Amino acid sequence: MRKIVISTGGGDAPGLNAVIFAVVNSASRLGWEVYGSRHGYKGFLDPDELLRLTPKDVEGITPIGGTILGTTNKGNPFKMPVQNLAGETQFVDISERVMSCFKRMGFYCHIAVGGDGSLEIAHRFAQMGMPVIGVPKTIDNDLEATDRTFGFDTAVSTATEALDKLHSTAKSHDRVLVVEVMGRESGWIALYSGIAGGADVILLPELPFDMEAVCAKISENELHGKRYSIVVVAEGAKAEGGKVLNRGTGEAGRAEVVLGGIGEWVAEEIRQRIGKDTRSLVLGHLQRGGSPTTFDRLLALRFGGAAVRMADAGQFDHMVAWTPPTMSAVPLEVAIRCRKHVDLNSDKVLTARSIGICLGDKD
Ligand code: F6P
Repeated sequence: MRKIVISTGGGDAPGLNAVIFAVVNSASRLGWEVYGSRHGYKGFLDPDELLRLTPKDVEGITPIGGTILGTTNKGNPFKMPVQNLAGETQFVDISERVMSCFKRMGFYCHIAVGGDGSLEIAHRFAQMGMPVIGVPKTIDNDLEATDRTFGFDTAVSTATEALDKLHSTAKSHDRVLVVEVMGRESGWIALYSGIAGGADVILLPELPFDMEAVCAKISENELHGKRYSIVVVAEGAKAEGGKVLNRGTGEAGRAEVVLGGIGEWVAEEIRQRIGKDTRSLVLGHLQRGGSPTTFDRLLALRFGGAAVRMADAGQFDHMVAWTPPTMSAVPLEVAIRCRKHVDLNSDKVLTARSIGICLGDKD
């Protein structure tokens, strides 16, 4: 009988549990045993962190946010943070240990659900001989090889709902409200939620912005009797000639810096330049929480089912990708190579411009 292991790595995203549900049910129907590794690769090393998952164990988890397996963005086995006796953080490579545990436990393959970082780790294990299949996950939607990642639609819905709510308070106080949304170096969440949520200004990482253009739009609103404005700014956006703002790496062992601060910076500039009463808020992890939308559930379930079919066909070192109208298998090496950015000539960007949304340039 085949035994497979599934892990979830990196930041959580709504839909992870739906993938787990689909993998467990599809694999069980083939007569396979499924195990879940808790917090990334922990279950590979510690039997207490390895869960046997049967259809009964995953019953009803599809609509639940987060991941029943837990996740981490400090669990890279090739660069695992450990504290030495002096309390300093050092990095050790424990990948060989993970490999030998994987072999000893007799797993047929590993289904690794994660974003760019986790998929890169999965590919490195594939190169060491682990049969791996990647499932793309990130609310940022920034993986080039797949049309969509699950979690994105839910994050956009949450951000749009927040913008809807901010209109009434901004209008009541004649204020400018600046909302910082997630997405790292890609502006998908900002663009989609900004258009759907009636923003006046959307600032994207793909288009460095000019504060004069932003303030001109807010002043133009005033001229037309609209005394409030909503500005959506992606956490990875920057002013022309400026830098992407960040809050450092946070906890030891994180691979990436925590982006943030640009919303407050933009709000302060608006206050100083045109004297408008301005408030900023960071939507933050609200965008990662909650029940996945129908779209994300369906996509995640389809990813999980396709991943097991790929495993059955022995198509390893590949990532399942949504390439409408079908699911395809993309080599992990290709999948991790490129980030997907907003195309400034795309229909959505043109729509934003057509309906009068300022993108922070003088266009
Ligand atoms: O990649 C998903 C994401 O939510 C980004 O949009 C954001 O920059 C980052 O993760 C935040 O990570 P953390 O939860 O570790 O602060």
